[in-house]
Amino acid sequence: MSNDGVNTGRRRFLTAATSAVGVAGAVGIAVPFVGSWNPSAKAKAAGAPVKADISKLEPGQMVVVEWRGKPVYVVHRTEAQLADLPGLNDKLKDPDSAISKQPAYISGIDRSIRPEILVIEGLCTHLGCAPKFRPEVGAADLGGKDWQGGFFCPCHGSKFDLSGRVYAGVPASANLVVPPYSYEGDNVLVIGVDSEAA
Ligand code: FES
Repeated sequence: MSNDGVNTGRRRFLTAATSAVGVAGAVGIAVPFVGSWNPSAKAKAAGAPVKADISKLEPGQMVVVEWRGKPVYVVHRTEAQLADLPGLNDKLKDPDSAISKQPAYISGIDRSIRPEILVIEGLCTHLGCAPKFRPEVGAADLGGKDWQGGFFCPCHGSKFDLSGRVYAGVPASANLVVPPYSYEGDNVLVIGVDSEAA
């Protein structure tokens, strides 16, 4: 049950439920998906917010949390990764997120509440496949030296940067969606409840 939510590089898989916060997961290699989360049926039915303890999420790592039946990618970006974002603007379709795919309290090119923590829905804005987390700078299959790390959708080749911003010249036309979220204290991420409603 826990070997299919894996991704490139070191990564944890995290399961969240409304009544408990916990890391349930495993480290893996290889590809995307996300099928081993296990929220309670009640939480699923209600579409309730989910909580995730991100205290052990290290720079460069990603975890996946299910919310309303959708995978939500939580990435702890490194300082170097954040520093690369402005230089990508010319290669992107919507670098400033003019087409809103995020709550009103999200702005800027980091598209996050805390710059280092990216929270985005793991559903390609083309036709809904799950993009792969591809943080390796210079990955030969993704453009070599021009690739600064990001997300790659294997279905039709859409590419997104580490803020979920879509590249030009790919099928997807919009940035990945930032769901409503907030924090409880330093380490607990609450997906589905924003700061005003928390
Ligand atoms: S669904 Fe991602 S590129 Fe088509």
